[in-house]
Amino acid sequence: MAEPTKLLIDTDPGVDDAVAIFMALAAPDVELLGLTTVGGNVPLARSTRNALALLQAAGQSDIPVAKGASRPLRGRFRYAPQFHGPGGLSLRLPEPTAGPFEKGAVWFLADQLNRQPGKAILVALGPLTNVARLLWEYPAALEQAKNIVVMGGAVNTPGNVTPKAEFNFYSDPPATEIVLSSGLPVTVVDLAACRQVGISREQALSLHSAHPIGRLTLEMLQGWFGKDMGRQWFEFYDPLALAIALEPAIATFAKADLDVGLEENESWGETSETGGPGEISLPQQVDSSRFFGLLEGLLELEGF
Ligand code: RIB
Ligand code: CA
Repeated sequence: MAEPTKLLIDTDPGVDDAVAIFMALAAPDVELLGLTTVGGNVPLARSTRNALALLQAAGQSDIPVAKGASRPLRGRFRYAPQFHGPGGLSLRLPEPTAGPFEKGAVWFLADQLNRQPGKAILVALGPLTNVARLLWEYPAALEQAKNIVVMGGAVNTPGNVTPKAEFNFYSDPPATEIVLSSGLPVTVVDLAACRQVGISREQALSLHSAHPIGRLTLEMLQGWFGKDMGRQWFEFYDPLALAIALEPAIATFAKADLDVGLEENESWGETSETGGPGEISLPQQVDSSRFFGLLEGLLELEGF
């Protein structure tokens, strides 16, 4: 029996974070070691509440949720209610009865990584503040990760929060710079990759599932379209990062060295290739059929 894939997910749930988390929870050969929360799409308190509520709704409240950063390394988070709604999710879930882990996110990540050297994959789906702090406070811990997969950046493609910057990297460019310049083997799933996997309103509304977590996922996705009749297309940002963590063969990759805009001007949070040699793995071509096949299989979706 092969060992399960051990995941740690750092997240700011968030509708697409929720879909990614549900994929991990539904995957039979995945052990979700824990969630760590960060402000981003919503304030930290809401991000943590949503993480607890998602696990409870999926019947997996035993999985720990450790609270992380309420602010970026510099400045403040700007939230994204226009996309995720004021509460951060497009599905009303019961208030969680469980509380967060007694220790913070950085301690929890270091402890988990050190407990199983070379075994756990860290998937970062929000601003990189917790991951940067982990590098600062426990520099050797992240070297114990089997892989580090980050959703963020807009390389040679327009941004989604400014013309040049993607939301997660824009939310904390100093933290992003610390992580991307660490020399660690980081996979950066940027908007150019994520824009290769989208679904139309019509497609989404036609899907159904007999799997309880599949049904929750569809309610979340269909609820997102239902919030605004102008919404015609949903891109699977965080779910693609999760999928690549589980099945790297979903994409082809090129090595890159990335810079992040740290000037407080229009280039704030912009990602650009330096052209030099680098350790960053950047997806090039995404096999969208394989991505949707994984999504369909994990969540028992029908109607594609
Ligand atoms: O730019 C997309 C990213 O920003 C996703 O992680 C989404 O959840 C938001 O956090
Ligand atoms: Ca996110």
